[in-house]
Amino acid sequence: MTRSPLMDLAFGYMPAQIVHVTAELGLADALAPGPLSSAQLAKETGAHAPSLLRLLRALTCLGVVEQRGPDLFALTADGQVLRADAPDSIRSLVLLFCGPDVWRTWGDMAETLRTGEYAWHRMTGMTPFEYFAADEEFSAIFNRAMAEHTRAVAPGLVAAHDFARYGTVADLGGGDGSLLAAILRSAPGLRGVLYDLPAGLEASAGPLADVADRCEVVPGDFFESVPEGADAYVLKSVLHDWDDEKAAAILRRVRASMRPDARLLILEQVVPEVVDADSRGTVMNDINMLVSTGGRERTDRGVARSPRLRGVRDGRGDRADPAVQLPRHRGGVRGVAAYRRQGAARAPRLSSNI
Ligand SMILES: C[S@@+](CC[C@H](N)C(=O)[O-])C[C@H]1O[C@@H](n2cnc3c(N)ncnc32)[C@H](O)[C@@H]1O
Repeated sequence: MTRSPLMDLAFGYMPAQIVHVTAELGLADALAPGPLSSAQLAKETGAHAPSLLRLLRALTCLGVVEQRGPDLFALTADGQVLRADAPDSIRSLVLLFCGPDVWRTWGDMAETLRTGEYAWHRMTGMTPFEYFAADEEFSAIFNRAMAEHTRAVAPGLVAAHDFARYGTVADLGGGDGSLLAAILRSAPGLRGVLYDLPAGLEASAGPLADVADRCEVVPGDFFESVPEGADAYVLKSVLHDWDDEKAAAILRRVRASMRPDARLLILEQVVPEVVDADSRGTVMNDINMLVSTGGRERTDRGVARSPRLRGVRDGRGDRADPAVQLPRHRGGVRGVAAYRRQGAARAPRLSSNI
């Protein structure tokens, strides 16, 4: 009997949790200097040695470690990204998305499919961002995970868009400032404003260290107000956290603070109208938004070209001016559109039901 490929899909939780515990115990960091036995690794990481030996065998089959002898294991090239200090580390992304909180929301997906209510809210009674304000440790993991993703896409953005044309760029919901720092480094005369909730800004000192003299860090709530006076505004991976009503409220607030000649750059993953195997990362992320935030990844028309966005992008309803297309391989963020605010217009309404 041939094995159905669905078996691997259905049992995908096993590798996910094996990789998660590897990140949580810091096994990759401990293996970085060289191969270790299970007993040595257990001592380094505070694990139970006999159980760790079994995990290491599993990690060998998954290509994360290599078995050099009956009880000797080395980190593979693929496994390096689980090290906390790797430049392309995904450790915090793994801790966040395979960790117990997000894990529980995925486990409750059926109820979301029945009711439409996102599992995170059902389980915690809070939005994720309210939850972060109450849980410093989890918030720190979230911020680091966002920065890991952003560091992967920032080079593509600054290579594709000339930020030197602006005097000031404001990154709204800019998290720890990793993207804004990369933007500021790309244009030595540019000034920046990093705007986020206090919990989002918590770790911004490090990423902004070398551009701190050109950057203002402003705590605030983009549903309440948005800094005025910037030449360009950036919203990266922000609208996807919210349903259409909330996303439109953010856009309305941004529009109200923009000068007529200012620009808004929206960076989001874009779901193709017709998905294929290449869309996998984006549509999985969309399901994560479905259960974890109540937001969604949107189609190109849903976020970038919807005539209903004309209130933001152009009072006359002209086509948006797509300024940047990021290559697909840059961490999946590839849809970027720039909008010029021209004159008054009716309030934007965002529809992704297309
Ligand atoms: C998915 S993260 C994206 C962070 C960053 N833009 C990036 O791409 O790495 C969403 C960000 O929006 C911020 N945020 C959520 N609600 C906010 C609010 N009401 N006002 C300002 N920022 C908010 C969060 O703190 C978080 O940093």
